Parts: sequence; C-alpha cells; structure tokens
Amino acid sequence: MIKTAYYQDLTKMNTFGMKVKARCFIEYDSVADLVDIEFEELARPVLHIGGGSNLLFTDDFKGTVLHSKINFIEIISEGPDRVLVSVGAGVVFDDFCDWAAKEGLWGVENLSYIPGEVGASAVQNIGAYGVEVKDVIKTVYCYDTVDEEFVNFDVEDLEYGYRDSAFKDPEIKGRYIVTHVVFALSRTPQPKLDYGHLKEAVEATGAELTPLLIRKVIIKIRKEKLPEPSVMGSAGSFFKNPVITADHFACIEAAAKAELGADYKVPHYDLPDGTVKVPAAWMIEQCGWKGKRSGNAAVYDKQPLVIVNYTGEAFPEEIISLERRIIASIKAKFDIIFHPEVEHI
Ligand code: EPU
Repeated sequence: MIKTAYYQDLTKMNTFGMKVKARCFIEYDSVADLVDIEFEELARPVLHIGGGSNLLFTDDFKGTVLHSKINFIEIISEGPDRVLVSVGAGVVFDDFCDWAAKEGLWGVENLSYIPGEVGASAVQNIGAYGVEVKDVIKTVYCYDTVDEEFVNFDVEDLEYGYRDSAFKDPEIKGRYIVTHVVFALSRTPQPKLDYGHLKEAVEATGAELTPLLIRKVIIKIRKEKLPEPSVMGSAGSFFKNPVITADHFACIEAAAKAELGADYKVPHYDLPDGTVKVPAAWMIEQCGWKGKRSGNAAVYDKQPLVIVNYTGEAFPEEIISLERRIIASIKAKFDIIFHPEVEHI
C-alpha cells in the first residue's frame, strides 16, 4: 500500500528532531509498490530516508521524501554453519540484531542499538565495535528508479569503505532504492571483542559467550555514552574520525606532550597503510568543546563526537553554527579539516 501526504511534519522522522516539513511524503510497504510509483513525476529533489538517524535537515524539504515500511525477516537458506537471512529495508536495524541474537546467530551482535533501518545500513555501511555491516552483507536488492527494474548487487561490487558505499557515488546517488538485504550469519561462535574494552566488559559478566550476551554488553556501553534519541535529539557521531599521515600525527603528539606532560598518550589507531586514525572525540575535547552549550544545541558531555539538540527546540542554524565553530577550532589547533558524518539535507 502506498500512502501519500503533503506538507508532512518530519520532526519525528529525524532523530535530531529538526522541526521541518516535506512538501510530499510517500510511504510504501511492499516491494511491488515501487513499480506503481511514478518517479518521473515526483516533486524534486527526491530523498529516500530510513530511520532519519544520520540526517540534518537544514530547512523544509522542497521535494519528495520516500520511506519504506518493507518489514520482514526471513531465513532463506540454512547450512550447517552459514544461515542466509533476507531482511526488508524498512526493518529497524536493531530489531534485526535482536532477532539474530535470540536465534543464536552470530554476525550483527556488535552492531546492536545503532539507530536506523536496514536499507540505510547498507548504503551507509554502519559500523561499531570493530564490525561493519559490509562484513555480513551478501547481496543488496534494489529497485532502479531510472531503468524501472529490480536489480541486485553482490557485496564485492558495492565498493564499501568507512561509512561509504557505491550508493553514495554522486553520479548514482538516489537512483537505487534498497528493497531488502541478504545477510550471511553464522551458527558457529565468531565473537569479535578486540575493540576498546569490549573484551573486559564481556568477561566481567562471567556469563557464557553468546550473541545475546555481547548484545547486552554493547547496549549497556552505548547507553552510557550516547544520548537516547527519544530523550535528546542527535544523529550519533557528527563527524568522521580523520585519517592523517604518520608525520602529521607525530607533530600532534609532540604538541600534546609539550602541553599535557611527556607521559601523555594521544589515543590513535595505526592503519595498515601507515596512516593514523585519530579519534575526533579526543580532538573536540582538547579544543574545550566537551559539554559546551550554545543556545539550544550542545556538544554531548559523555561523547563529544555527538552534537545534540539539547532543549529539543534547536533550529538547524544553531547546529550548523556549532559545527562550523568546531571545524574552525580543530583546523586552528590540529591543522585537520573535519568532515561531517551526518548528511546535510
Ligand atoms: N574520546 C576522548 N574523549 C571523550 C570520548 C572519547 O578522547 O570524551 C576518545 C577516546 O580515546 C576513545 C576514542 O575517542 O577511545 C574513540 O571513542 P569511541 O570508541 O567511543 O568511538 P568513536 O570513534 O567516537 C566510533 C563510531 C561510532 C561507533 C563507535 C564504537 C565514527 C564516526 N563513530 O565512534 O559510530 O558507535 O566508534 O565502535 O566512526 C555513529 O556512526 O553514529 C556512531 C555512533
């Protein structure tokens, strides 16, 4: 069924809680509905949203917003170990994680409690605690709005990178609508506990290692660090973690040691190609932004990589002004240009 609305309020459809409207809003609940939508005739631009958890609406949307309610989770093949599961694009990603953990299937437990829906997860290559969704995706099924046909892409063809995929390529952006995703999960235990203090946190429970246990531990960690969208609006991490050269990192480390003491260690991850990933959260904290409020917007006190709609009344301009000032101070102190992870609409 296709539902169409005009001048639709989007406040509850973006986790930042921006009070904006869409000129036209279309929601559909089956793969077949896509064939009936006249894409040529829709008010432009066209934006397909998932859970609206990685978007910053900067104004009312002048075109058409589409949303999928394709909601199914179905085991399509079951080998001795590998289990293929087909999941509709409109399924809340964490509902899928919950289902998999309860089925005793390994693969998505580290991705627990990330906001958003399955369709968007395959576009954005969501990731957390050392796992990216591309690690478990097998095939992404789509509707091609240009050639008006159903197509599918194997994971190898989607050029997945850090929060990136071929779907984000400016030349084809918006052309393909994800209808469902086939994930390859596993019955054999495959715990991935190398990220941060995850291993200690899991071992501290003393319980048997299951996907459900890891899921519970991750949900607890995330609840401690990240704001609950229903309580305080945000879009999760606002910036990407920058990757810099080893020389550049050496300069930053020398400056930090001069400022904070010779024993001070700058958090970082050495990447295989010799470059260095430095947590944006650390840099934002060093620039004094942690917990800072600016009008109705603020830098979250428990995780400064997150900009929050502190009062629930923030205007897009307030978020953008804070973003600009953070970018400028990071450039001045570290000579690094931050890039937002959140998509500005
Ligand atoms: N840190 C500080 N000060 C702070 C907080 C953190 O210096 O106040 C430093 C610490 O050194 C910490 C490091 O930042 O070890 C990294 O923090 P964390 O492990 O929380 O991860 P992150 O880099 O901030 C990324 C993803 C998150 C994902 C977590 C966990 C990005 C942009 N963000 O955050 O994804 O949940 O790792 O895997 O890659 C999201 O995309 O919206 C998101 C929340």
